[in-house]
Amino acid sequence: MTDDQARSNRSTEGMVDYNAHSSAQRSAVAGHAATISQLVQSIGAVRPEFRLADYGCGPGLSTINVARPAIDAYRMLDGEGPIAVCHADLPGNDWNALFTLLSGPEGYLEGQNGIRPEAAVGSFYDRMLSDASVDLATCFAASHWFSHAVHLDAPGTVWFADLKGEARREMATLARNDWVRLLTLRAEELRQGGYLLVSTLGSVPDPEEANGAAASGRGIYRAIQVAAQSMADDGLLDQAILDRFVFALWFLTEVEAKEPIESDPDLSKAFAIEQVTVVPAPANADDVFGALIDDPAAYARAYTGYTRAFADTTLRTQLFGPAAKNGDEAEALAKEFYRRFEALYRAHPGTYRFELWLLTVILRKR
Ligand SMILES: C[S@@+](CC[C@H](N)C(=O)[O-])C[C@H]1O[C@@H](n2cnc3c(N)ncnc32)[C@H](O)[C@@H]1O
Repeated sequence: MTDDQARSNRSTEGMVDYNAHSSAQRSAVAGHAATISQLVQSIGAVRPEFRLADYGCGPGLSTINVARPAIDAYRMLDGEGPIAVCHADLPGNDWNALFTLLSGPEGYLEGQNGIRPEAAVGSFYDRMLSDASVDLATCFAASHWFSHAVHLDAPGTVWFADLKGEARREMATLARNDWVRLLTLRAEELRQGGYLLVSTLGSVPDPEEANGAAASGRGIYRAIQVAAQSMADDGLLDQAILDRFVFALWFLTEVEAKEPIESDPDLSKAFAIEQVTVVPAPANADDVFGALIDDPAAYARAYTGYTRAFADTTLRTQLFGPAAKNGDEAEALAKEFYRRFEALYRAHPGTYRFELWLLTVILRKR
């Protein structure tokens, strides 16, 4: 499995053990519950039905927590009217887990009438729903993933924020193109007067960083690089594969998020900007798992669990798989990687901390 062709072309393929390791994402959703209610109030009652679409919904609790305030707010406006809640994600999402949760005690269906849960399976870089059929579109902790995997000349780093020169420029172009594409498609799917709410990891200006911006999670990605490089140094990973591996994602600054909405003729016609901000997360913004720092083993476990949840499929398909001769060898590489990653956090608590700045974009469809 050393051929480039054997690698997945997807930027990401689903989350691992997500509900247990997504406290950061869940608190971002919780932090926007009041905004979701306000947006629904502002949209008002809709016929023939009110439709919420949550793009990049994931396998469980977060998307339920997006739907609940929307449903409650809508029921205050319209006690009877039909509501459709569309959960939209890639085919690899754990759809069974999600639909089991929806009708269980943690779901939003119990004791409610007139709510129709739906799934839209595909990429939010393609059309997922029909023209003008969505009133409120949400996208939490997902829009930073690119439409495709990226392989470029990137020795010394596995992520966008530390790239230099041509590689950085290439990556920036991909990021802008995907952001424009995501917004353009949502503009087609939204009804007039509807809202798009995007919340994800962001970056803030920082003159001390190589590219002038500090990106959320910089400690985590640098720890991934250190652990992976130590495996390459020990002959366990092919250096050439590591040098061409970059996580296919980008955390936008306020300026990067806003610029195409203002300058792209179609987007500026389609959307009025209500909010574009990047601010520190409401809690533990300096070290998301900092509450555990006095217990280095627990701190290291929390970081490893979180990282596995978002990075495992990407690392397996783009780094361990291509570097291994067979599935067992890839599995052994993954195990060794997490062992080294966890040891790094245990040995140096605080060095690779997860700093979190949240990007919020709220746009109204004209
Ligand atoms: C970190 S999870 C976030 C899940 C949930 N929204 C939350 O806030 O907890 C990212 C989700 O985005 C989905 N995703 C990534 N790229 C996507 C794409 N191009 N189209 C649809 N979903 C995508 C992944 O499959 C995953 O479920």
